[in-house]
Amino acid sequence: MGPSRLLPIACLVLLVAGPVHAQAAQSCDGRGAGADTSEAWQRRVAAADPAAGERLFRACSVCHSAEFAGPNMVGPNLWGIVGRPVASAEGFSYTTAMTLHRDAIGEWSLCRLDSYLANPQADVPGTSMMYRGMVDPADRLDLLAYLMTLSVD
Ligand code: HEC
Repeated sequence: MGPSRLLPIACLVLLVAGPVHAQAAQSCDGRGAGADTSEAWQRRVAAADPAAGERLFRACSVCHSAEFAGPNMVGPNLWGIVGRPVASAEGFSYTTAMTLHRDAIGEWSLCRLDSYLANPQADVPGTSMMYRGMVDPADRLDLLAYLMTLSVD
């Protein structure tokens, strides 16, 4: 096959692969495959168990403080993380991967946190968070319910 035949095939591959990737990136915004609205997340997390989430947070507290104005450790302080702009803890030096993630998504919605905590390296390729992910979706809901308590509201 000469290059003149390969070109249309390459274009076809790009056409098919492009939208699939775009859908994955949009799945937290109420559009695309696996779309979910923030109201659905609010309901789901309201039914979860923040006390169980606090116990699960022990795996995180090696690297993260959770109290108001707590110190940055290996990872940034997580007070107010739900709804907080990505990569915004004062004085913490984030990776380029995480600052690009901020440009892409803005703030940490419940859905975005869930996606990151399920598999940090897959969600934000190049992140320095050395945590392999929380596999059980029910555990993640409990953890999110706990993270929601880290706020004055
Ligand atoms: C081994 C240390 C480590 C562990 C364990 C860890 N993290 Fe992290 N975390 C980090 C680092 C480092 C970053 C900064 C990542 C970057 O800049 O790419 C981070 C970033 C984050 C962010 C983004 C913060 C922001 O300001 O945008 C969230 C949310 C987060 N971690 C939550 C958690 C939760 C919840 C757990 C437990 C399930 C956890 N992390 C476990 C080290 C860790």
